[in-house]
Amino acid sequence: MNLSFALPLALHQIASVVWIGGMFFAHFALRPTLQAVLEPEPRLRVALGVFQRFFPWVWGAIALLWLSGLWVFLVVMGGKADTHVHAMMGLALIMTLVFTLIVFLPFRRLERALAAGELPTAAASFAWIRGLMGFNLLLGLATVVIAAAGPSLWFR
Ligand code: HEM
Repeated sequence: MNLSFALPLALHQIASVVWIGGMFFAHFALRPTLQAVLEPEPRLRVALGVFQRFFPWVWGAIALLWLSGLWVFLVVMGGKADTHVHAMMGLALIMTLVFTLIVFLPFRRLERALAAGELPTAAASFAWIRGLMGFNLLLGLATVVIAAAGPSLWFR
């Protein structure tokens, strides 16, 4: 049993499931349902509440992904890893930057616009969040494929 590898990798997997699974649920189940059932204003308010509750979990997942990934990479593997790990880090870096952008630009604008009752600005901010989250979802799924299947396919 090698706990210094197994434990961080288990935490790594939990963090990626929380972040990517959450985006998948929001994109494919929650958003179309809100669109079909609610008028624009309550829809945007529900979306804001969902983001306010989900985003702190995403910060936690990001911290856990980097800490556990860097631990395995630097301490367990001694800084030497196959291409799939470097690809994973690169994609994770882009995803982390995109998420930071979401939080500090359109999400903050959505909060302010709804507080001021400015529905068109709120709707435009929501559209930005949706697009950027869809982009991150694609990158996240690609990262999982590369990380899990890459070594047996072409990343060796
Ligand atoms: C969204 C971000 C990330 C996702 C979805 C992700 C996903 C994964 C997955 C699915 C594995 C398991 C591969 C296997 O089955 O062996 C893995 C392993 C690993 N990840 Fe990540 N990861 C992410 C970010 C990172 C980051 C930021 C780092 C480093 C700083 C990192 C370093 C590693 C390392 C070193 C392994 C072990 C690789 C091996 O055993 O060959 N990951 N990751």
